[in-house]
Amino acid sequence: MLFRSLFAVALAATATMAASLQAVTGFGTNPSQIQMYIYVPDKLATKPAIVVALHPCGGSGQQWFSGTRPTVQYADQLGFILIYPSTPHMSNCWDVQNAASLTHGAGGDATGIVQMVNYTLTKYSADPERVYVFGSSSGGMMTNVIAGTYPEVFAAGSATSGTPFACFAGAPSATPFSPNQTCAQGLQHTAADWGNFVRNAYPGYTGKRPRMMIWHGNADALVRPQCALEALKQWSDVLEVPDMKTVANVPASPYTQYLYGDGSKVVGYMGAGLGHMPAINDKVMLTFFGLLS
Ligand SMILES: *[C@@H]1O[C@H](CO)[C@@H](O)[C@H](O)[C@H]1NC(C)=O
Ligand SMILES: *[C@@H]1O[C@H](CO)[C@@H](O)[C@H](O)[C@H]1NC(C)=O
Repeated sequence: MLFRSLFAVALAATATMAASLQAVTGFGTNPSQIQMYIYVPDKLATKPAIVVALHPCGGSGQQWFSGTRPTVQYADQLGFILIYPSTPHMSNCWDVQNAASLTHGAGGDATGIVQMVNYTLTKYSADPERVYVFGSSSGGMMTNVIAGTYPEVFAAGSATSGTPFACFAGAPSATPFSPNQTCAQGLQHTAADWGNFVRNAYPGYTGKRPRMMIWHGNADALVRPQCALEALKQWSDVLEVPDMKTVANVPASPYTQYLYGDGSKVVGYMGAGLGHMPAINDKVMLTFFGLLS
């Protein structure tokens, strides 16, 4: 009997030791009523880094957790925390057209996501200097938005199949079903104009800005590849690295690298023949973040 109950306790302990995705409620300010999920690996690093993972339209935190298994394995290996925000609104697309999310401290999904970061920093004594964000499609669009609106929060971001900061501003919605696809069809501005949208999101801010990585497939018909080139123009202006050269087959075929300066602040990868939402290259992304060497 004693053996049996000890065995049950041991089993229960094993079960609770395997980390899993957890819903978090009551994490604080959440003006647009989005949801928070978190993955805290069993072996957490001391003063862990935080990586925010943003799902595409039609997705959810749980779905994107399943869709980013390699990232989760790196979290287990390296001991960083993953936050999976989830939006139930607007066909599960992030509110990248919303003036509130495009303005520092003004609300929208961006404020809720930043609050999730705040909550996690405090609860897990995480490292405020090592907070990162990545996402695909709508999640890539929101990666560019939140990096622009909350530059003090994020050290780096990686946007796949996204659009520049403020690209959807003035469009009533930013879903694939919205009649106005001007942005996703490759809306163009000058680098300086794109840069001004970012600077005007947080007037007077002179602190550091997140380093940015942009990924896209050049056969993407839903969010045109021009959107990636526009985002690169934007970040090269904001981060003041105007000189660019392309390097074929980096990190590997079919990708061409868009190298701004030495690539440590702004870098892009365009995949020849790839469509919407190409697979995330965790190794290159986490190395850019500084989590892998
Ligand atoms: C997050 O923390 C910062 C710094 O402590 C604070 O200014 C901010 O109001 C907090 N919440 C949000 C949503 O930004
Ligand atoms: C369509 O969206 C763009 C931004 O993506 C905006 O500038 C434009 O005003 C919108 N057009 C209409 C008719 O609402």
